Amino acid sequence: PETGSLSIVVLGASGDLAKKKTFPALFHLYRQGFLPADEVHIFGYARTKISDDELRNRLRGYLVPNKGASPQLLEDVEKFLQLIKYVSGSYDSEDGFRLLDKEISEHEYLKKSVEGLSRRLFYLALPPSVYPSVCKMIKTCCMNKSDLGGWTRVVVEKPFGKDLESAEELSTEIGKLFEEPQIYRIDHYLGKELVQNLLVLRFANRFFLPLWNRDNIDNVQIVFREDFGTDGRGGYFDQYGIIRDIIQNHLLQVLESVLPIRDDEVVLGQYEGYKDDPTVPDKSNTPTFATVILRIHNERWEGVPFILKAGKALNSRKAEIRVQFKDVPGDIFKCKKQGRNEFVIRLQPLEAMYMKLTVKQPGLEMSTVQSELDLSYGQRYQGVTIPEAYERLILDTIKGDQQHFVRRDELKASWQIFTPLLHRIDEGEFKPLPYKPGSRGPAEADQLLEKAGYVQTHGYIWIPPTL
Ligand code: BG6
Repeated sequence: PETGSLSIVVLGASGDLAKKKTFPALFHLYRQGFLPADEVHIFGYARTKISDDELRNRLRGYLVPNKGASPQLLEDVEKFLQLIKYVSGSYDSEDGFRLLDKEISEHEYLKKSVEGLSRRLFYLALPPSVYPSVCKMIKTCCMNKSDLGGWTRVVVEKPFGKDLESAEELSTEIGKLFEEPQIYRIDHYLGKELVQNLLVLRFANRFFLPLWNRDNIDNVQIVFREDFGTDGRGGYFDQYGIIRDIIQNHLLQVLESVLPIRDDEVVLGQYEGYKDDPTVPDKSNTPTFATVILRIHNERWEGVPFILKAGKALNSRKAEIRVQFKDVPGDIFKCKKQGRNEFVIRLQPLEAMYMKLTVKQPGLEMSTVQSELDLSYGQRYQGVTIPEAYERLILDTIKGDQQHFVRRDELKASWQIFTPLLHRIDEGEFKPLPYKPGSRGPAEADQLLEKAGYVQTHGYIWIPPTL
């Protein structure tokens, strides 16, 4: 592995994302020994004029759990916080960035004894509107020192644009400043344990090899549900809506050969009370729920609906992929068919994968019942801590591994799929249906699912095993 000084700069250091995700992820990496104190320095940068200690005080509460913090953990938090320095400045003037560069360089030359490189990682926990100017400032003032060797990498967060045109514009602007290998576009769902497992599952198991196609699979659902609304983020959310916030990025990895979305394969919803948020316009047409069917026009998937579903303020919180197989032909057991085979990959909560299947009801009678082969991580991998998505992705950035990041062409393809629909929603031509908070979303969405061929198994609920 590379050695030398590693400077991690979190821009937007006092914002929500930085406090809730970026710094805690850095702390976890630090605790596991991935950020050795003699090499690493962390810089917070934002406009607010505060001292190093004030930033540390603001972060502490996000690093220490509410209860059960061991003395060791508390000590580690303090040591970690001491690695953080704060620099204040604006996002579009050189002064602040020159100061930042000075601070980074001091630390780098101080650590020159460590030998090795000048590695600079800039994490933009900022709204995309300032990406171009911030990237320009980094390029002008803060690139790694060539006499030390090393690299400069920039991590950016979604939303990358609002539609195809604005995304391409953003890509072009950033592309003028940085090469693609320097740009890490984060989609944190790509860092989730079970998403990382998909490749292995699919290609290392004989089970799936012959079945993974239109002859056997009837439909695929990719579902994201949250049981809370926009909770104080209404102002941000209203500019984007559920399709841009979740579906276009977190749920979408199937890009090639997607046919244009049909109107009758879309159901939009907006939960009642969404517009009570003072930062949301009274007439907002922004969907907080959407079910959209994608059709893939290739030899393997022609005719298989990929149903993407995401919603806020629903009755549960979960993210899962559900692959439903076709019915077994005939019915030799003379029992009413109870359910189809399904392979479910549950991302969260309670990571698991399970296969729903029909088995004989244990006992003297010959009757059938729905059951499952269950790989629940909590039970199978007891004592194993599953890394946070952000933790893994930041480590990948340090290592220079881009495979779990969004490439420019991929980003373009995903916007291409959704832009026509999004424009019609923005223009108010496509209206979301109201739904009650805490419900399943608009009933029309379930009807669409049924129309697409999804067969619900009545009376069967997967119960995660208790330890
Ligand atoms: C973010 C969205 O990207 O992902 C949020 O902007 C959403 O609206 C969040 O709540 C969900 O992430 P997670 O990891 O909590 O499922």
